[in-house]
Amino acid sequence: MQMLASKFEELFGSAPEVIASAPGRVNLIGEHVDFLDGFVLPFAISDVTTVAIARNQSNQIRTASMQKSGAIFQTEVAKLTPKTGEAWSRYPIGVIWALEISTGLDILIDGEVPLGAGLSSSAALECAVATALNSLFELGFSLPELARIAQRAENIYVGMPCGIMDQSVSLMATAGNALLLDTRDLSTEQIPFDIAPLGLELLVIDTQVHHKLVDGGYAERRASCEKAVSDLGITSLRDISVADFIARKSELDAKTFSRAFHGVTEMQRVLDAVQLLKSGDFVGFGEVVSAAHISLRDNYTVSCPELDLAVETAQKFGALGARMIGGGFGGSAIALIKARDLELIKSEIISAFMAAKFKAPRFFSALPSAGAAVIN
Ligand code: GLA
Repeated sequence: MQMLASKFEELFGSAPEVIASAPGRVNLIGEHVDFLDGFVLPFAISDVTTVAIARNQSNQIRTASMQKSGAIFQTEVAKLTPKTGEAWSRYPIGVIWALEISTGLDILIDGEVPLGAGLSSSAALECAVATALNSLFELGFSLPELARIAQRAENIYVGMPCGIMDQSVSLMATAGNALLLDTRDLSTEQIPFDIAPLGLELLVIDTQVHHKLVDGGYAERRASCEKAVSDLGITSLRDISVADFIARKSELDAKTFSRAFHGVTEMQRVLDAVQLLKSGDFVGFGEVVSAAHISLRDNYTVSCPELDLAVETAQKFGALGARMIGGGFGGSAIALIKARDLELIKSEIISAFMAAKFKAPRFFSALPSAGAAVIN
């Protein structure tokens, strides 16, 4: 933090007025249902993005990042236009736009959340900025309101039609717990996820694949689910049971059916997974996690060979459950493993990737951590 503050002074010639940070996330279960009124069960990771912000006396927003060698991107606050400007600067500027702030600002970003790894570095950045500005301007927004504002920044200013999961967990997570979030009304329940005393560990496998078409593929599948809702004449996929959905199969084309089938079954899997966690049944929980991967791979078709190989290898060498997380087409998978199998599973995944001539994967261990905070 000291380094961030001194770099800020060096770049902008004044001290920051506020410093805030927000974490990335992993998602235990509930994938691609956060724009369908579904339930999701993510937790915040310990990697955070930190932002230092101060008002300046001009009509300019000046944005710089420690990861971009401190080059300053400058834009006039009165002329903010969605989908313009340096790609990375759209996230913080989008939040300023969504908050309708009209004051000149200096912003320095320090991002620890690995980029492009499917761990939601973008939501971490949006939520750090939203948290800092909420405090600096004493705006008084609640955490669910800030989540909606950050989502609006990403949907409209950045142009990515994401759901509300990543922003919600980045803001509302608490240490030691996964966040059961109802994306219909943003109500939450903290679900203890204290696996270390049980000899378990959540391994994150970053495949290092960053699919260029992720935005198009994501939006296209989301549109299929919305088509299913309209073809069936229902208000939401949340409002139909798995059995009723199957019974109406003939009303949908094959692609629409299989994508929406993922959504309907995934919502049920989240509820099942929460019950299993509450009863301490980690074997059953792992099976539901693995079932989610099969559905993402076969019904929703957002996996890729690297994710499938990571998941299959982890399972083959003892994982209780494993699946891809996030938007898909690359990024990370998670595996719930016995801590004593950690080195074996990592080395088997490395060997399998080498044999398949894939890029070497990276590994992290994830523990449920706290959400966004003003730190100065
Ligand atoms: C991305 C989006 C989220 C969510 C996941 C898939 O991370 O930002 O809103 O839809 O994909 O579950």
